[in-house]
Amino acid sequence: MPSVWVTRRNGETKAVECRSGKSLMLGLKTSGIGEIAAICGGCASCGTCHVYVADAWLDRLPPMQSDEDTILAFSDWRQPNSRLSCQIQVIDRLDGLAVTVASED
Ligand code: FES
Repeated sequence: MPSVWVTRRNGETKAVECRSGKSLMLGLKTSGIGEIAAICGGCASCGTCHVYVADAWLDRLPPMQSDEDTILAFSDWRQPNSRLSCQIQVIDRLDGLAVTVASED
């Protein structure tokens, strides 16, 4: 299983294992990253799975789709490296991906 480095809102950074083929959001939630509320269940409509992707990984992710872009536009905390973790499918070549949980809107 690919490992993902996640920095939580309290500043703690830890590696979590995420099942390949599932969303990053699911991997984070099942690893106990409680800040990832994901109240819409992963359909890109709530924005509560917002993360910042480390710059070195941005180009290795699939491009953002318009629905993801629309939801992120509502966030006060959007940055150029913002993504919705529910829209990132974990695959083996993302082993070592580093993300930071965004502040809560
Ligand atoms: S879980 Fe709702 S937008 Fe990602």
